[in-house]
Amino acid sequence: MSVLFHQFTSPDTPFDLAEFLYIVRRLYIWPIDKYKRQMLKRVQNIYRYKYFVETGTHTGNTPRALRNDFEHIYTIELDEAWFLRSQSRLKRYSNITCLHGDSQQILRSVIPRIDLPAIFWLDAHYSGEGTALGAVKAPILQEIELIGSSDVREHIVIVDDVSDFSAAEGYPPLSSILGALEAINPKYKFYFDYDERIR
Ligand SMILES: C[S@@+](CC[C@H](N)C(=O)[O-])C[C@H]1O[C@@H](n2cnc3c(N)ncnc32)[C@H](O)[C@@H]1O
Repeated sequence: MSVLFHQFTSPDTPFDLAEFLYIVRRLYIWPIDKYKRQMLKRVQNIYRYKYFVETGTHTGNTPRALRNDFEHIYTIELDEAWFLRSQSRLKRYSNITCLHGDSQQILRSVIPRIDLPAIFWLDAHYSGEGTALGAVKAPILQEIELIGSSDVREHIVIVDDVSDFSAAEGYPPLSSILGALEAINPKYKFYFDYDERIR
């Protein structure tokens, strides 16, 4: 336990029990990564869409896990080292396309290729040392705006780490994200899942 303790606190940060328990739950009790991939599969089992688009490839674990669930997967990563690693890891899967660059730019060329409703998994954001920091910490609003340029109005948009979207964290507030989605299609309904942290 002491190892965990040191991992989540520093001499300048007072110990926060709620934060500590939250992180332990996400990492060890109810692993967040496994949960997210199961949730994406559950959504796809309902809708059976052809395309999956991920922003923020990181390790490539998500497209790898979903490779048999979609006809084609596009995944975008800004950090060159992560892009090269995931591209090499995923090259054996002919239905996964790894793209390198800022999602704000790359989505411009991906969106016109998506001629049918798709699931967008928006997960590009600065995630600490060793990950990319683009023009903005999280290009979520720009990504949603680009999704809005699609002729298709029925895309499913799933935003990861939604509890981080507050001005205090330096991200666009959640209200602006919901507003941007409603501007695409006023019929959108919003659901929240897993992350019930209350501050
Ligand atoms: C939380 S990780 C993504 C995790 C991954 N989607 C998954 O499901 O396991 C966020 C990734 O976004 C990348 N990133 C940050 N800004 C980006 C941007 N503007 N465009 C594309 N990728 C970006 C980071 O380098 C990092 O690898």
